[in-house]
Amino acid sequence: MSTTAVPIYLDNAATSFPKPEPVYLALDQFARTSLANPGRSGHRMAKEAERTIELARSALNRFFQGESANRWIFTLNCTDALNIAIKGSIQPGDHVITSDLEHNSVSRPLRRLEKDGVITLTRLESSEGYLDADQVRLALTPQTRLVALTHAVNVLGTVQPIEAIAAIVREAGALLLVDAAQSAGVVPINLKSTPIDLLAFPGHKALYGPTGTGVLYVGRRAKLRPWREGGTGGDSKSVLQPEELPFALEGGTPNALGIAGLAAGIEWVTRQGVEQNRLHEVALLQRVVDWVEAEGSGYGWNVAGRWDAASHVGALSLITPNLDDFHPQVISDILDTSFGIAVRSGLHCSPYIHQRIGSFPDGTVRLSPGPFNTEAHIDAFLEALQAISVGIL
Ligand code: ALA
Repeated sequence: MSTTAVPIYLDNAATSFPKPEPVYLALDQFARTSLANPGRSGHRMAKEAERTIELARSALNRFFQGESANRWIFTLNCTDALNIAIKGSIQPGDHVITSDLEHNSVSRPLRRLEKDGVITLTRLESSEGYLDADQVRLALTPQTRLVALTHAVNVLGTVQPIEAIAAIVREAGALLLVDAAQSAGVVPINLKSTPIDLLAFPGHKALYGPTGTGVLYVGRRAKLRPWREGGTGGDSKSVLQPEELPFALEGGTPNALGIAGLAAGIEWVTRQGVEQNRLHEVALLQRVVDWVEAEGSGYGWNVAGRWDAASHVGALSLITPNLDDFHPQVISDILDTSFGIAVRSGLHCSPYIHQRIGSFPDGTVRLSPGPFNTEAHIDAFLEALQAISVGIL
């Protein structure tokens, strides 16, 4: 394989590839005709850029059934959205609930706040990749301001009972922040029926926008302090950051090009159907689970977490037979260089769950198919794993 050839790409949990054709077309067209600074200038091109962004907000609001388009904030990525939500909502003395399933974009800001004595933190312990909603109920205290949890775990692909959790958190009067990095676009999220206060996700995973796009939904009960203040286009005479959404949280020139691509991605997912993509990806992973059960386990391979196709997105981690012969990093390097297959190994920026499942600090081999992967891609992956397992390289 030449170094520039496109691999069999099984790393959609990191970012989706390829993007649907309409996304490439939208990016190209916007870049060539409308890439002015939205909201900053009054000329037609700037107005067109602004219109594209406002249409994208409306599309998000329809897709997730939010309260209004202006509650959708465009951010740099999901980490940025989560940091805006966490650091903008916390007050000294607050109690926060999180879990061992979280990505560092939730764990690190919370651990920093805990270490600095600003908050007290409860980290719920998962079992086989799942939380039980009652664990949240039991951990809530009168001081709990925020419950920050992932919807689908990036390492394992397991989907958490977020509807049940949301009802419990709302009843207790705390705020619920959901990290939907791996679920937005593949698991239905309905903000009308599920009381989520803050919903964060990247635009570049299962919504098929380019990297550099992130989104935060800010519900009515969440009053966030902005920490990035600056130009917002309108009301330049005001000496302070405007208070109204989305401008309060969107200082600086937005990624208009990325948002144009994201809008095309949302439209494509809407046409495909949310469940459609998840079912396709899970069906592909089922082949891997079946191989592990039939043959892989004989070599010592294991599926991490509990496999339940009904509550899973398209990410699956494999625990390697041993670290001397099958170090996850070595396996993914061999897959890449000898077989042209792209996966992600290691800790996936989520150390706590690897500690829980016993794969810390070396991690697992994670594969994450997308809508454009086929059974043939998975079979190529399994043949490669089989060859590596019997040592015929
Ligand atoms: N958080 C992304 C992943 O899981 C980058 O790979």
